[in-house]
Amino acid sequence: MRQRNFRFICKIAQMVRLGFIVMTVCINITIAYEWTWLKLPRKHISYHFNTNPQLKTMCAEDISCPYKDCINETKCWGYEPFCNSSIHISHLNCPGDSERWTKTKEEQFNKFWITADFGMISERLQEMTTLCKPVDENDSSLQCVKYLRYCQAKNIYFNFSSANILSGNDRNRYREDIIKPGQVGGHCQLDVNILKSQGEHKSPLQSWYAELEHYTSLEFYPLDSKHCDLILDKPTYLIKLDAGVNMYHHFCDFINLYASQHLNNSFSTDVNIIMWDTSPMPYGDFFKITWKAFTDHPIIALKDLDGKNVCIKDAVFPLLARMRFGLYYNMPLIPGCHGSSLVKTFSEHILHRLNILQTGPLREQIRVTFLVRNTQYRNILNQVELWSALKTGGEYEVTVVDFNRNMPFEEQLAISHNTDIFIGIHGAGLTHLLFQPDWAVVIEIYNCEDPGCYYDLARLRGIKYMTWENKSKMTQEDEGHHPTLRAHAKFTNFAFDVNEFMRLIHIATQHVRNHPAYLTAQKDIADRTVKYNSRNIIKDEL
Ligand SMILES: *[C@@H]1O[C@H](CO)[C@@H](O)[C@H](O)[C@H]1NC(C)=O
Ligand SMILES: *[C@@H]1O[C@H](CO)[C@@H](O)[C@H](O)[C@H]1NC(C)=O
Ligand SMILES: *[C@@H]1O[C@H](CO)[C@@H](O)[C@H](O)[C@H]1NC(C)=O
Ligand SMILES: *[C@@H]1O[C@H](CO)[C@@H](O)[C@H](O)[C@H]1NC(C)=O
Ligand SMILES: *[C@@H]1O[C@H](CO)[C@@H](O)[C@H](O)[C@H]1NC(C)=O
Ligand SMILES: *[C@@H]1O[C@H](CO)[C@@H](O)[C@H](O)[C@H]1NC(C)=O
Repeated sequence: MRQRNFRFICKIAQMVRLGFIVMTVCINITIAYEWTWLKLPRKHISYHFNTNPQLKTMCAEDISCPYKDCINETKCWGYEPFCNSSIHISHLNCPGDSERWTKTKEEQFNKFWITADFGMISERLQEMTTLCKPVDENDSSLQCVKYLRYCQAKNIYFNFSSANILSGNDRNRYREDIIKPGQVGGHCQLDVNILKSQGEHKSPLQSWYAELEHYTSLEFYPLDSKHCDLILDKPTYLIKLDAGVNMYHHFCDFINLYASQHLNNSFSTDVNIIMWDTSPMPYGDFFKITWKAFTDHPIIALKDLDGKNVCIKDAVFPLLARMRFGLYYNMPLIPGCHGSSLVKTFSEHILHRLNILQTGPLREQIRVTFLVRNTQYRNILNQVELWSALKTGGEYEVTVVDFNRNMPFEEQLAISHNTDIFIGIHGAGLTHLLFQPDWAVVIEIYNCEDPGCYYDLARLRGIKYMTWENKSKMTQEDEGHHPTLRAHAKFTNFAFDVNEFMRLIHIATQHVRNHPAYLTAQKDIADRTVKYNSRNIIKDEL
């Protein structure tokens, strides 16, 4: 049974609404669900209902449920047992050649689906194995997918008494010697052989093997307060993070956390998050605000648990940012395909929870955002010339931005989400393409000889990617100065031919203006305007 958060409210509130006499004492208590707590985009609700049938029944029975129209829809993500390939969500398209990765079109689709889309969730669910089996009522349990890339544990016990995070002088954020034999475990029947056979991916950002390899069957019940200095009752995610100062890497953390929420079928924000950072140092996080999409509570640092015995009722060890063949860092993405529903859904989920609104498209103009860098290298030497070319003629609403730590991240997202054509040179700021609308284009004006990175990210997100095509129409200041390695194009500056630049912009513009999602959005705006005008007319007549 999946448990949900219930809030008890008084029937009185309903009576007031219905115009009944207000009683001072509340006699009749009904159970009602606080629907706003779901905090899911409206278009995700019917999927969520189908994986949570009790919730659906409650909605059917609750007159105040705002999602009645989502009850009878047979939508599913694709990993649910009842959900076959003819009915699951899909934005996947494979118009291009697979470049000999697969023999048939069907295989090509399937490859993308199981490596980069909700099919990946199905695969992990199929791997789920019980490593420590509960026998009686208050027992612990441990279930994991292969190589302990994702685990869920009940009543787990951690002994951090010899972790030496604060007292040691090791500044390594990824120590693997925190937990020694006997310092993690639960009251359940452990299959030691299966556990010990899962070590192949032992590595800080590939699996949880280092943290769980010493899992032991304990004599005592972990939650028995004698053994715990601290008991965490709330569901708790333990996370190990890639670089919080780099959007590309950090969003790889977030997307894997989101995918893990699908694995556990739970999107509640009333959860703890423990950041498994084994150093005593603070964690620099330029994108902190994004945590709001995952928890209502402050992040707990592992160093705050140093020296303690900690017991957790319900723990999830999520998928990690640098898994082999994982999403999306270093991922070999099958050629010819684009449009992962998992990535699109992630984008919608984050935007919804951070309350970032789509205010466009504009009736006439195309919204172009030009990302500038304030760094030593990868500057566009003639950027002013490019901007003025864009501004000539009035077809474009041009915004020039420098996304840096001084601009609140929500503000940055509001800009990228309202960008039809996003232009920037190779750099982590291009990760903002994840939050552009479906009809958008991203132009990585030059990829600095790293062609796959943002091209693949744009393919995952399902938006059009373009880059500089003719090298003889650009100039590179010099060969590039890597601080330690050989010369590389990432460490110099560039100038671009204006006419060629505008040729690319016009191709991008055609893509936007002809995109079905753009046309639909334009129509919605037109319809809203008509309605608004007719309301005004009625007002005027009154
Ligand atoms: C995982 O799912 C279970 C079952 O729905 C739920 O009780 C628990 O709170 C979830 N855990 C987390 C960390 O969200
Ligand atoms: C959903 O389907 C049921 C059974 O077919 C029907 O009774 C009910 O009115 C429908 N609800 C909505 C909101 O369409
Ligand atoms: C998929 O499921 C739907 C609804 O359950 C069913 O009508 C359809 O026949 C199934 N298709 C396949 C190919 O199994
Ligand atoms: C399980 O825990 C509850 C609450 O602590 C207790 O009342 C109950 O007796 C326990 N059951 C067993 C089998 O130990
Ligand atoms: C925790 O680990 C320390 C060091 O190994 C050990 O001395 C201590 O007894 C352990 N605590 C419990 C409650 O098992
Ligand atoms: C690239 O630009 C050069 C110089 O303008 C031109 O001669 C050449 O034909 C172009 N190449 C392609 C493939 O368009």
